[in-house]
Amino acid sequence: MSLSTQPYKGTRDFYPKDMRIQRWMFAKMRQVVESYGYEEYDGPMLEPFELYAAKSGEELVNQQLYWMIDRGDRKMAVRPEMTPTLARMVAGKINELPKPVRWYSIPNVWRYERPQRGRLREHWQLNVDVLGGDPLLADAELLSLAFDLVKSFGGEKHVAIKINNRRLMDHVFTSVLGLDASAALAVSKAIDARAKIGEAAYAKWLGDLGLAPELQTKMEIFFKSSFDEIAVNYPCQGVEELKSLFAFLKDSGLGQQAVFDATVMRGLDYYTGTVFEMYDTSGENNRAMFGGGRYDNLIGMFGKDKLSGVGLGFGDVTLRDFLETHKLLPEMKSAMDVFVTLPTKELRGISEKIVRSLREAGLRVATPLDAGGFGVQLKQAAKHLARHVVLLGDAELADGKVVVKELATGQQRTVAIEDVAKACQG
Ligand code: HAM
Repeated sequence: MSLSTQPYKGTRDFYPKDMRIQRWMFAKMRQVVESYGYEEYDGPMLEPFELYAAKSGEELVNQQLYWMIDRGDRKMAVRPEMTPTLARMVAGKINELPKPVRWYSIPNVWRYERPQRGRLREHWQLNVDVLGGDPLLADAELLSLAFDLVKSFGGEKHVAIKINNRRLMDHVFTSVLGLDASAALAVSKAIDARAKIGEAAYAKWLGDLGLAPELQTKMEIFFKSSFDEIAVNYPCQGVEELKSLFAFLKDSGLGQQAVFDATVMRGLDYYTGTVFEMYDTSGENNRAMFGGGRYDNLIGMFGKDKLSGVGLGFGDVTLRDFLETHKLLPEMKSAMDVFVTLPTKELRGISEKIVRSLREAGLRVATPLDAGGFGVQLKQAAKHLARHVVLLGDAELADGKVVVKELATGQQRTVAIEDVAKACQG
């Protein structure tokens, strides 16, 4: 029996043409995030199981985690997200790190999910986090950074950032509805799923949780309220935080794109304040492009130190779907600038000299690994999308010259060997 060439379900092979796109997306991520003064970090793909069991939430841990017992009997998990690793690393050097900590990373993370549009089992996720500083200024900085990232891809007209606050929701669940902590968590999961599962399933879910009809009515009144109505009827710290955050976002030019949405709950349990998601407003992609929020107590898992943070995860799968939907992916250039032909092995010395001078000039250069005629080698160059081809013809070489051909236009120039690099630039 022959082996399958398919990758494991829910994972992708990145052939060079996909890798070109991936590298282009990551380069933009790095450029924008670094323009805000963030530094890159990384950590291991395996972490102790307990790191997630403590705070990430039931769904992630019981249904989505890949885990194993290692040869030393330790229960290890393949990272399903980066935030616990970040918290561990920050906690480990909390007194040495300059504050605020502004870090980013682009890890691959694994979740056992049913593969579908926007959801795979392995994805890469830009993580950007700030720990320390004034919480609402930090929240605003992060959202404005994320918006600038989408702008750098040309997608700013197609997105909205939906924002909510966990403290406001806790206030509604406990003080207004009188739920205890575990009922509040269960109800928040139903709200989180509402848009995906539909009204009938949502109502049944609430019924199954034993939520009395009058509480359901109270909840509906809350969800139908505008932010101004909520500010008057449900005053609390969460509302005050939202007011300040929206004012800061307006200063950053996000007055239109940032909107309040009480249904944004976020699946992860560690968020305690601001929570947010970015959506494609075209309706073509129903998965959040990024999601995140403020976590006050993650560092505390590792000792007595406290440092509140805010962060987001921006997935490569949802980003690529978004860019494809809006035709924002450019034609990707190949990895080769110049192809230097090799008509005979005797000419290898001169070919090598030219190749070296081109590489020293910063160009990406390849040569054929078989000597052969120009026709075959020109075809090879075209297949690899080289911009220029250097043809080593006897007549020109006798004068210390070669022919440089631009493949897109077909234009040819005869140039002195010392001038080849100049002729191939641009
Ligand atoms: P998350 O909401 O679980 O948050 O994921 C963030 C983003 O990762 C999603 O909005 C989506 O773009 C992408 N994503 C998640 N799961 C999948 C999947 N199965 N397939 C493809 N893309 C996916 C977190 O992971 C938090 N740790 C983010 C964070 C950082 N919070 C604070 N700092």
